[in-house]
Amino acid sequence: MHNLYVCNWKMFVDCALIDSFLKAYAAEALNMHQNTTIVVCPSFCFLGYTNDQQKVITQNSIKIGAQDCSQFATGAYTGEIAAQHLKQVGCLYTIVGHVERRKFFHENDEIVLAKATHLLCAGITPIICIGPFEGIFNVLDICMYVKKQVTFFMRNLDKNSTVIFAYEPHQAIGAGEIPSIHAIAEIFSYIKTAAYTFNPEAKQLIMYGGSVDEHSIKTLKTIRGIDGFLVGRASIDFQKLKNIISY
Ligand code: PGA
Repeated sequence: MHNLYVCNWKMFVDCALIDSFLKAYAAEALNMHQNTTIVVCPSFCFLGYTNDQQKVITQNSIKIGAQDCSQFATGAYTGEIAAQHLKQVGCLYTIVGHVERRKFFHENDEIVLAKATHLLCAGITPIICIGPFEGIFNVLDICMYVKKQVTFFMRNLDKNSTVIFAYEPHQAIGAGEIPSIHAIAEIFSYIKTAAYTFNPEAKQLIMYGGSVDEHSIKTLKTIRGIDGFLVGRASIDFQKLKNIISY
């Protein structure tokens, strides 16, 4: 098991909160988690700031990620953020295809594939969010849905690249309604099988996201095959994140 914790800070975290998170980390966690990778994903405008601050405050032990990127490599697309530019401000990871992007900005798997492709070209690891973004609740239907998605991405991305898949049940995001552990385990086995069929060397990591907190982590960590967690609300306060990591 890899211990990857990706903090999706959405639009909630400003400079003051970034500083207090990094200082709390430096005071309590520096050198504590040898096998743990923490990736923080602030909004675009604070990426460079967070990277500069983490170098000084946490001595480079926290990684920086973005919450999204443009589906275009470069060009006249006002307001868009290119993957290459994310690399220049220190991003090593980027979340793509989050449920909120799919629901509110109508992104589909073709758009997410374009983003993941540009990220890989820029040397950034894409964290591809999968799972139905609304409506589907039946476990077998979800298994089929994610299998199709993983097959689509694996078929179209460079086989040798490292990709992270994050399964997030839409009803769990921000809401506390986590499906049963059996259901999640079943869905993960479909994701792993689909990914490994295309790349037996298994460079793909698989994460869970959606209402991960100090309480849910206890059972979530019992699911075999989870390489890490995508954490929203509970990742803003470093103490809460620390409790999740150290459980
Ligand atoms: P949550 O968000 O942990 O607040 O449910 C997770 C996410 O949106 O990735």
